[in-house]
Amino acid sequence: MIDQITLRQPDDWHLHLRDGALLESVIGYTARVFRRAIVMPNLTPPVTTIEAARNYKKRILNAVPDNLSFTPLMTAYLTDDFSAEVLEKGFDEGVFIAAKLYPANSTTNSSSGVSDIRKIDSLLETMERIDMPLLIHGEDTDPLIDIFDREAVFIDRHLQPIFKRFPKLRVVLEHITTVDAVQFVETSGFRLAATITPHHLHINRNAMFLEGFRSDFFCLPIVKREKHRLALRQAATSGKSCFFLGTDSAPHLRGAKENACACAGIFNSPYAIESYAEVFEEENSLNRLEAFCSEFGPSFYGLPVNTSSIKLVRRSCLVPENLHLGRRSQDLSIVPFHAGENLNWSFVNIEK
Ligand code: DOR
Ligand code: ZN
Repeated sequence: MIDQITLRQPDDWHLHLRDGALLESVIGYTARVFRRAIVMPNLTPPVTTIEAARNYKKRILNAVPDNLSFTPLMTAYLTDDFSAEVLEKGFDEGVFIAAKLYPANSTTNSSSGVSDIRKIDSLLETMERIDMPLLIHGEDTDPLIDIFDREAVFIDRHLQPIFKRFPKLRVVLEHITTVDAVQFVETSGFRLAATITPHHLHINRNAMFLEGFRSDFFCLPIVKREKHRLALRQAATSGKSCFFLGTDSAPHLRGAKENACACAGIFNSPYAIESYAEVFEEENSLNRLEAFCSEFGPSFYGLPVNTSSIKLVRRSCLVPENLHLGRRSQDLSIVPFHAGENLNWSFVNIEK
């Protein structure tokens, strides 16, 4: 049994960092392990201009602890009236690495998202031409569709037609949650990849209702039946390059989660790498952890892999019930994913 893992330093290909005091409180958890991250643009107001992305990037860099190297990769938040010229300019200037499609009202801070995908055909045409990746929150928001079916319906109703209209567009279907998504991604060739979160690998929908409603496990897309979780574990540990790491760590203050109208999102960045390692070990696939965490993402995005590495050791680590964050005397309490659990692996350090 091995008791130490050294990995090329990973990147997080789907992350929510928020802004202001919350950004300052959470950024260290990501930057202490991950070298880069794709930063989601669903702020209020959302990141819809080149200038907003530039300024947000500066605020992120200012918040990174001095002893850490971290590069935020910025995304544009697509709206019905986003201009194709601005998108192309932002991509050419290296400000936007990709653009995010939130169907309007599909999740947290998505009310300015796209109301009808046909309305952004000129953006998709531009993105296909300039080879700019489209990152999709893949849920159909039709209120008649059962919440557990929204991802599968999105694939049928929207993603397949997108590929028919734009066959060379490169897409990341973010935080996939179903066997339907796994199969669709596996059979779509190199133009389509998917990120997989730690929480969708660990919990099924029963976890949300264990002896009461557990809003800490409420996220979107919502966790599904066990058969879907098992398919995701197979996919993540398969060694197929179309599946890679994206935590979707999404911090919400404790008060916003313990609320009659709980916010969707799971804060997993403090123990994300340990959480993935646990899954890969359980699936007898630790030899494939590095590719999933550190190689397939850069390959899809056409970026170099990192040259530094990280070390994990087999040492039990107890995840706190609650993290009291905040440098400015505010109480920013957040419940981390795996709260109260013991994980088998512990992150040690980054090695240059
Ligand atoms: O659970 C989620 N939380 N899913 C998302 O798509 C957004 C995220 C957030 O921003 O809180
Ligand atoms: Zn997200």
